[in-house]
Amino acid sequence: MITYQEKNGVFHLQGRTYSYFIGVQDGVLTHLYWGARVPDGDVTGLTWKSREGASFDTPVNRHWAELPTQERGYFGLRALDIANAEGDDVLLLRYEGHRIFKGKAPLAGLPSAYTESEDEAETLEIDLRDALTGALVTLSYTVYRDFDVLARSMRVRNEGGKPFEIKGLQAAAVRLPKAEYDVMNLKGAWAREREVMRTGMPQGTFAIESRRGASGHENNPFLAVLSRSANETAGEVYAATWVYSGSFRAAVDVNVDGAPMLSIGFSPDVFRWRLEAGETFQSPEALLVYSPSGLNGMSERFHRFIRLRICRGAWRDRERPILINNWEATYFGFTEEKLLAIARRGAEIGCELFVLDDGWFGKRDSDNCSLGDWVVNPEKMPGGMGAFARQINDLGMRFGLWFEPEMISPDSDLYRAHPEWCLHVDGRDRTEARQQLILDYCRPEVQDYIIEAVSSVLRSAHIEYVKWDMNRNMTEGFSETLPPQRRMESQHRYMLGLYRVLEAVTEAFPEVLFESCSGGGGRFDCGMLCYMPQTWTSDDTDAYERIRIQYGTSMVYPCSAMGAHVSAVPNHQTGRVTPFKTRCEVALGGNFGFELDLSRISQEDMATAREAVARVKRLRGVLQRGSYSRLVSPFENRNFAAWQYVSEDGARAVLCMYQPHVEPNGRPFSVRMTALEPETFYRRVDTGEVWSGAALMNMGVPVEFPRYDFASSVLEFERV
Ligand code: DGJ
Repeated sequence: MITYQEKNGVFHLQGRTYSYFIGVQDGVLTHLYWGARVPDGDVTGLTWKSREGASFDTPVNRHWAELPTQERGYFGLRALDIANAEGDDVLLLRYEGHRIFKGKAPLAGLPSAYTESEDEAETLEIDLRDALTGALVTLSYTVYRDFDVLARSMRVRNEGGKPFEIKGLQAAAVRLPKAEYDVMNLKGAWAREREVMRTGMPQGTFAIESRRGASGHENNPFLAVLSRSANETAGEVYAATWVYSGSFRAAVDVNVDGAPMLSIGFSPDVFRWRLEAGETFQSPEALLVYSPSGLNGMSERFHRFIRLRICRGAWRDRERPILINNWEATYFGFTEEKLLAIARRGAEIGCELFVLDDGWFGKRDSDNCSLGDWVVNPEKMPGGMGAFARQINDLGMRFGLWFEPEMISPDSDLYRAHPEWCLHVDGRDRTEARQQLILDYCRPEVQDYIIEAVSSVLRSAHIEYVKWDMNRNMTEGFSETLPPQRRMESQHRYMLGLYRVLEAVTEAFPEVLFESCSGGGGRFDCGMLCYMPQTWTSDDTDAYERIRIQYGTSMVYPCSAMGAHVSAVPNHQTGRVTPFKTRCEVALGGNFGFELDLSRISQEDMATAREAVARVKRLRGVLQRGSYSRLVSPFENRNFAAWQYVSEDGARAVLCMYQPHVEPNGRPFSVRMTALEPETFYRRVDTGEVWSGAALMNMGVPVEFPRYDFASSVLEFERV
């Protein structure tokens, strides 16, 4: 997987479908290639020529530095920026040595991709040193035998005598071959997360960024550079995401040579890190994907890797329970009786998990109080949580509970006891959002308090699912526990504190299924997925909107990571009325559930819900573990969207199609499936018709919708 050609000073990182070459010349570490896999061999004649320096007396063109820094002749975006004790930020890193070893080490204090055996991966570590500051930078690359993702991170150690400050760090920054490209990102806002956005390549820098202390709704930590002609099935795509849940910047930096550099790392506005002599800083991990087969090829690579080497724990491979959540059914206004009425209807149609959302603790009857007081409200739950959970279990369902453990309400016992426990700046207003402040997770005593508070509730009742919510962004996001020269470390230290808490809680309750949430999908990232294998995709439960949200989310994240619920109409976010069947057929695109008052729906809708539950139970192995392909984009087509799944063994396929509006004078057309065996025959389950894979992929399946708006059609196929 990883070789070092000593004679040429060249490293070859060879994955299943990609190659990545790095060269060392005169001590300078230079990027030679990232793209389609090539056999191991001497490629210097093809690569070095185009890396030669043109000016400034440099042996190589510094634009091709494997780790671009502020040094002679380089004016582009820097991957590592260090202000030294003298006050300048020149950094001349030179090769000092390397190691290649089996497996992959965990990253200190941070979530990261893992291996299940030493043999499935190899790691290369390259040491670079700056003589003047004594900065020792170790670049780490892991190549997997069975996955097409390259994992990259870096450690910076101060081996000089004086402190210095890291003021910018990209976990990965890779220069791509000169070509005509587009840039793609997933933009959005609350209730419209991850819209697919594609633009032309700039000269200069195109950057997406979060400074919010969370990945955020506005931009997902993901960026792709793709050939102009690339589409879902063809063309080259280079993509990056990272295993981190805080602020970030992802950028494409294009120099005068026209060769773009793709990078992902910290947002320089909200990140600084001081390193005293002898201290080490560990960066989060970037995940890089090269696809020679378009965007579906990229997504397929991300999906398998995230599902099997980011997500972990007891629930990673288990079929996820069909849930009924009370939030949109009752909001804060519930009684035990009301909850049980909903739960009973849920049990009747086959739901497997009842989730009690916000409002069960302290004196929380609205969103203006009690966060931090994780004690059950006896007025709402007179028998306590244990007794309520037993009543749910008696209906044949698991019981799950909502928490928002990173927050504190000014109107809470916790705040009255510890007003200093929130992020804030002395002498300035504490800006509230949703009438809440953020706990200072930089403080070990706050971390310990929350670990115990959540754990004691989980110990007090038979709770098998937790929704971990987080509903505001950081303002005055500083910890007063840090000295002035370290205050700017607050955001990253908060994340390290959060990861410590998540590690402790998920380790203590290994059988609990955790789902993360942040005002819907405001923290949908690989960092959270390391602890919680599913995320609430969006607070927007409107089926029509969800087609776009789930389609965009699927660019990076597998369907097994997306929560998707059937809700009431008129929809609470949009006022739109969509058919019950369509709401079910959109929600089956993720971890299926309900979020409406089932005790108030018609018998007809109950029957549709029952059928949908039975269908999801029949299909969820395919939907959660199969391979997913996008077929027709709702971002490019006004009135049609389609995607499909093929089971791991190739024996079953599911085709999902959606049409927002009835087309007057609409003409019949077909949708071409993909990823089937051309010579294999498949039976359409509802009609019994049999066609070859080649026919389904080339001639396509005729598209038929009933004559009403917001229609859907889900077809199942079985190998004959
Ligand atoms: C935001 C979440 O996204 C919702 O699903 C719900 O849990 C509310 N918070 C509760 O306050």
